[in-house]
Amino acid sequence: MYGAGDPRSPNGNPATGPRAKVTVPAIRARKGERPLTVVTAYDYTMARLLDEGGVDALLVGDSLGMVVQGHQNTLPVTVEEIAYHGRAVARGAGGAHVIGDMPFMSYQVSPMQAVETAGKLMKEGAFESVKLEGGAAFAEHVFRIVSAGIPVMGHVGLTPQSVHALGGFKVQGKKPEDAEQVLRDARALEEAGAYAVVLEAIPPDLAAEVTSALSIPTIGIGAGAGCDGQVLVCYDLLGMYRGLAPKFVKRFAEVGSTIVEGTQAFVQAVGDRSFPGPEHAFKPNGFPTEERPVH
Ligand code: KIV
Repeated sequence: MYGAGDPRSPNGNPATGPRAKVTVPAIRARKGERPLTVVTAYDYTMARLLDEGGVDALLVGDSLGMVVQGHQNTLPVTVEEIAYHGRAVARGAGGAHVIGDMPFMSYQVSPMQAVETAGKLMKEGAFESVKLEGGAAFAEHVFRIVSAGIPVMGHVGLTPQSVHALGGFKVQGKKPEDAEQVLRDARALEEAGAYAVVLEAIPPDLAAEVTSALSIPTIGIGAGAGCDGQVLVCYDLLGMYRGLAPKFVKRFAEVGSTIVEGTQAFVQAVGDRSFPGPEHAFKPNGFPTEERPVH
């Protein structure tokens, strides 16, 4: 077996050195303890950087339909696309747990379809668990997937795959009867065997109530500080996404501006011929081969 930190090992991000793999039992054990950190990732390089930053889990979210592909919502994303991005993220993940989102209409048809899709994602996407949207109506789906040995993260409150039914990306659980439904949904997912549940865009007091009612961790996004962990889209938290950011997003860096400035500097340097300089050129023929690889 390769040791942790070995680039050939599954948790071998060489930049971070040895780091224990964050497993499903380890995530469960964080209930009420140190808050969990989950960030979306869609490619190898970003996965490596986020892993180096110490996140507990990387989610290959169907948000890729919006932030990577430029669609208005997540509905067009396919199982094959999630699996493709999953393989890239898994190669860079190091110790972070890797979760694959089940896209729209890849599990809603029946519990059987849900098991087949979850299995396909685990086999072809190199994921360690899957996530699906929906509450009590999908408890049977979750139960069947978990029975097949695949860990499931639930997702209630604002479920973006239902954007048209909800009339937009709107806060959920504001009315007392809606709040009760969110609580019922989260409980149903726990009973079905989910190991954690995302609470999206619900009032903080409701999220805190759900968190204390469940024995599995809650991961909030736009749900206040009372959850067992937080998840954000990587381009949002790093300040890269140029679209309209939801109110709950905090930009922890301005990477987007850094990219624009770096690009402007490149354009300028090529224009005035200050790049490439002699230090970026190979020696003429006849000199010993460069030791540094081209890549
Ligand atoms: O698709 C996604 O990125 C998500 C998270 C924002 C929770 O579901």
